[in-house]
Order: sequence, then C-alpha cells, then structure tokens
Amino acid sequence: MKKEKMDLNITKKMIITIDGPAGSGKSTTASLLAGRLNLTYLDTGAMYRAVTYAVLKSGVDPEDEEGVAEVVKKVNLELSGSEENRVFLLNGKNIEKEIRDSAVSNAVSPVSRHGCVRRKMVKLQRNIAKNGGIVAEGRDLGTVVFPYAHLKVFLIAGIDARVDRRATQLKSMGLNFSPEEIKQNILKRDSIDSTRTISPLLKAPGAMVIDTSNITIDEQVALAEKGALEKAEYLRGIGFGNKINKISKPMKFYYRFSSFLVRTFFKVIFGLKIYGKENLKCDENYIFASNHISNSDPPIVASSLNRKVCILAKKELFRNPLLAWLIRKYHAISIDRDRFDRSALLAVIKKLKEKESILMFPQGTRSHDNTLKELKVGLSFIAMHAGANIIPLYLSGSNDLLAAMFRRKKLELVVGPPIMIKGNFKSNDRKNDYRIISSMVLEEMRMLKGD
Ligand code: DC
Repeated sequence: MKKEKMDLNITKKMIITIDGPAGSGKSTTASLLAGRLNLTYLDTGAMYRAVTYAVLKSGVDPEDEEGVAEVVKKVNLELSGSEENRVFLLNGKNIEKEIRDSAVSNAVSPVSRHGCVRRKMVKLQRNIAKNGGIVAEGRDLGTVVFPYAHLKVFLIAGIDARVDRRATQLKSMGLNFSPEEIKQNILKRDSIDSTRTISPLLKAPGAMVIDTSNITIDEQVALAEKGALEKAEYLRGIGFGNKINKISKPMKFYYRFSSFLVRTFFKVIFGLKIYGKENLKCDENYIFASNHISNSDPPIVASSLNRKVCILAKKELFRNPLLAWLIRKYHAISIDRDRFDRSALLAVIKKLKEKESILMFPQGTRSHDNTLKELKVGLSFIAMHAGANIIPLYLSGSNDLLAAMFRRKKLELVVGPPIMIKGNFKSNDRKNDYRIISSMVLEEMRMLKGD
C-alpha cells in the first residue's frame, strides 16, 4: 500500500482537537480540516448551546445549578445529517439557527460552567469519538475530553480579528449585531470560560499553537493538516491501528509463562476482567500509570499487560532478601516514596530510553477507600525527561478479593488510551507542565473509573 494511502487510513482512526477562544477560527479550521481528511467534524460549542437553549426554554435561571441539572437530565442530543453537514438534534428537533441567537450566546457560559452539564457533554463527546476519525473543536477538548487525542491544536487571535470573524459568521446566518455588542459578548465569555474551576479554557500540553490573526483560512488549515499528517506518519511507525503488533521488548520465557499463570489465577479464582486491551497494541514502550488500592495490584496489573514491564516498587519491599531477589527477577526498581528519589527516577528514565516499559502507581500509597488521590510529580518528571507516552489504568476490586472470589464484587482493570507526551513539550515552565500532565492522567483515571 502506498504511504500516503496508509497515512490516510491512520488519520481515519485519529482524534484531532482544536481548542481556542470564541472567534479564533476554530469552527472554520475544524470543519475544513475534517473535510480534507475525510473525518467527522464535532462542534462541541453547539452542544453547550443546545443545552443552554433547552435551559432558557424551560424558564430555568442559567445560574441555578439544580434547575439546570433537571433540564440536562431530559436533554437528548444526537448528531445527525450527512458527513458534510452534521447537525445536532435536540430531542429530535433541528435547532441550528436558534442556538446562535444572542439570548443563547449570553447564557451559554454560565450554563456550561455547571459540572452536571460538563459531565454529560464529555460522556457524549467521547461516545461520538469512540472509533476515532474525528476533528473536535471547543475549549477543553485537548485537556479534559480527549487528553489522549493524537493531535491537539490551540488557536489564538487578536480581539479585532475575532470580532470581525464572528460578525461575518453571524451575518451569514442572517443575524446582525454591532461590532461593539459582539466584542463585549466575546470578552465576557473569554473571562468566564478561562476562569471557571471545571475545565477552563487552557492550552493542552503539547498543543500546536496557531495564531490566526494575520493568516488566511487556507494557511491555518494547511498548518493543521501538516501537523495531522506528521502525527499520522509517527503513528504508522509505531504500528497504530494494526491488528497485530510486535512489542518492543520481547518477554523471556519464565516471564511470559509466570505472567500467564498469575493472570489465569486471578481470572479463574477472582473473575478478573480486562477492558481496553486494544490500547496496548502499539509497538511502543509506555509508562503504565495505575491507581493503587491493594498489595496485590502489582502482580494483577503487570500480568494483565501482556508485555514486559519494569515495576517501580517501594524500597521497604527490598528489605526481605528473598522477596528482593524475586521482585528483581520481575524487574522491580526500588523507590523511596518519602522524598523526591532522583536516582530511582533517573534509573527509570534510562530504562525507558532503552525501550523498556514501566509500571508505576503514581499516587505513592494505597487508597483503601477507592478515592483517586493526587498524583505525585515523579510520573510527569519521568514522562517529560524520557519523552515517553503514558497509558492510564484503573483497577477496582483488588482491595476486597474475598468478595471478588464469591463474585460479589468485580475485579476489573480498564486500560485507557495513551496520553501523548512524546515530543510535545517545548514549554519553558516545566513545573506547570508537570502539574498539567498529572492532572490529565488523574482526570483520565477518573473517566476510566466512570466518575
Ligand atoms: O464555540 P462557541 O462559541 O459556539 O461555544 C459556545 C460556548 O460553549 C462557549 O462560550 C463556552 C462553551 N463551551 C465550553 O464550555 N466547552 C467546549 N468544549 C465548547 C464550548
């Protein structure tokens, strides 16, 4: 198969996000890019507008969270229409024109600030994109909805250019507003969208920034398309989307065999189920980051990944010589959890650079009550310095194996899609990047948990 054709097959499975403030050119760029690459265009702003329209119609105050929650429960949004002209139907009705109304524009930011609205929209957006092949535009797509997107674009533009664009867009819909009115609406929404506590408008780490103030539409789409094709080329290199992948580091026989035994033991006795195995297919080394609830997590998770992983283990485990010998056989690396253990982290980075995969439990200690605690900074430090992508994992049920044995509770491991870190960080503010990576992984674990 020709290379370009293969890359197009890959783009068909990719998720591309375009975030940015109102009027930065997202809709135009996203819809044209989707057209060029033959992907589905997802306008998430339209979804928040549709909910706002429903809220206004029912006479609920956009600030009233409980009232809005009641409306949201009854909202049924579905994507309809042809590939070239996708529209959202609200409870079966096309409301494309109504949602561009100024009443909706003025109320959409307060409505989309509510957690109940955002949770429902994120679920829906992920569902629409579950097979990939999507260009999604909005505010939080690269940071919250699709932290695992393959290409993230962040558009910026000066206020004058943004007002002009919005005016033209509204005019084409037969709606006339004065430039001052549009400017005030944009500035107000900017402020609410970027300062809200849940999913504020933020540039995702690694996002490709395009300033659209002084370039043509053609130029901005061409830049995004170039980024997408370069990513497709990279993904092709690691076997993305292939049915069968060879894993970078082969497993020794004893490792493969004992992995199989341990996995089978947990499957048969405790009913272990593993979901999202397709996320393991790429021929690439990863950092696997799992939540931690019990001492049995390392064997359960490591044996479920079906590839060789080096495990970061607390140094206390190495005190017993027999146990130390055994876990070293399984490539454990000792880490001191009470301090920033630079030498352990450097050892891990070295392993990753040698194309080994790592399994770690970045919360540091076990969380007995299943809550997802903040992640320690070590994970981000390793990912950035090794240039390795992260696969988030969520394990449940291992803290009550007796209940799992009698099938009263489920023992489940969910494998998330890789969060792309590699080659994406060029920021000067490392600390901030670490913080953002940690919150992306934590957010993803929450999603895998189903919060
Ligand atoms: O892109 P737009 O102007 O149509 O978006 C309308 C509003 O929806 C915007 O002011 C904030 C909100 N929105 C959001 O909060 N998150 C998104 N992903 C998309 C839009």
